Amino acid sequence: MSRRDFIKLALSEALIGMSVSLLPSCKTAKPSREPDAPAADTTRAVQSTFKASANGFDPQDILTSFDQGEIQVLPHGQLLHEYKIHVISKEIEIMPGIRFPAWTYNGRVPGPTLRVREGDRVRIELVNDDDLPHTIHFHGIHSGNMDGVFEQVYPGRSFTYEFVAEPFGVHLYHCHTPPLSTHIAKGLYGAFIIDPKQGWPKVDHEFVMVMHGYDINFDGKNDFYAVNGIPFYYEKHPIKIKIGETVRIFLVNLLEYEPINSFHLHANFFHYYPTGTNLIPSEYTDTIMLSQGQRGILEFSYKHPGVYMFHAHQTRFTELGWTGLFQVVE
Ligand code: CU
Ligand code: CU
Repeated sequence: MSRRDFIKLALSEALIGMSVSLLPSCKTAKPSREPDAPAADTTRAVQSTFKASANGFDPQDILTSFDQGEIQVLPHGQLLHEYKIHVISKEIEIMPGIRFPAWTYNGRVPGPTLRVREGDRVRIELVNDDDLPHTIHFHGIHSGNMDGVFEQVYPGRSFTYEFVAEPFGVHLYHCHTPPLSTHIAKGLYGAFIIDPKQGWPKVDHEFVMVMHGYDINFDGKNDFYAVNGIPFYYEKHPIKIKIGETVRIFLVNLLEYEPINSFHLHANFFHYYPTGTNLIPSEYTDTIMLSQGQRGILEFSYKHPGVYMFHAHQTRFTELGWTGLFQVVE
C-alpha cells in the first residue's frame, strides 16, 4: 500500500467518525514502527490529543481575525497601516499524526488576513527568517518595485513594501519566488481585504476563507484540501449562526497544482460579488468556481434551522478535507 493510499484509507475511517482501528492491518505502510508496538493505542492517543491550535494558530480564529496592523494618522488625515511579517519555516500537524513542513507568514497557514480601507497607506516589512529567498506579491494596484517579484528577499534580510490600497475588494498575497508552485504549495499566502471608503453594507457575520491544499509527499499533487489551514476543521467544529443572520464570506482560492477550486453552499443560495470590486452582485447561485488567485464575496442568510454543508463541488477535494458545516439555530 502506498503512503497515499494509506492516507486515504485512514481518512475515510476518520470521516465516518471511528477511531482509527484499521491502522494495525496497515502496518506495512509505516515501516518505521516497531513490530510489537501497541499500534492501535498509540494511534488513538495521537487522534485524541490532536489540537489544531497546537500549531500556534486556530482555524476558528482565522475565520474572524482581520489584522489592521499598527495604525497611525498621517498629517493629511490618511491612515497608515504598518505590518511586520516574518517568513518562518515551521512543521505543522494538519491531521492527527500527519505533519507538514510548511513555510509560513508569521507562523500561520494561511498567513494573516490584512485589512485596510481604500486610499489608506500600507507599509509591510517582510523579514526573512528562513534559509531560502522569499517575497510578498500583493494583488492590487501599486508600482512595479513594490510588486514582490524582482526584489528577492534573501535569508536574514528584510524588505519594506509600501503602497496606497486600491481598488476595494477581496484580494490576496503570496510569495513570488521561483519555483512559484512550491512557494505557494508550502503555505506562503493569505487574504488581503480592502474595504470601500464608505464601508460594506452591514452584516451580522464576516468570515474569511482561504482555500488551499497540502502536498505532503512533494509529488506535485495535493493529498489534502482545506479552508483556513486544517482539513475537515469546520466539519468537526461547525460554524454557528442564527436564522436570518446575514453572513459575508471573503473567499480566496490559493490552491496549487489544480486548475479549479469551487465553493458550494447547501440548501441555500448566495449573492456573489466576483473580486468584491462591485457592490452589486453578479450572480445569485449556490456554486461558484475559482481558479488560483480568483476570489470573491458571498452573502447569504439561512431561512431554516439545521446543519448545512459547504464544500468544494469537486467531490474528491471534499473527501480529502475541503468540507465544513454551518449550524443554523433559532
Ligand atoms: Cu517563498
Ligand atoms: Cu497572485
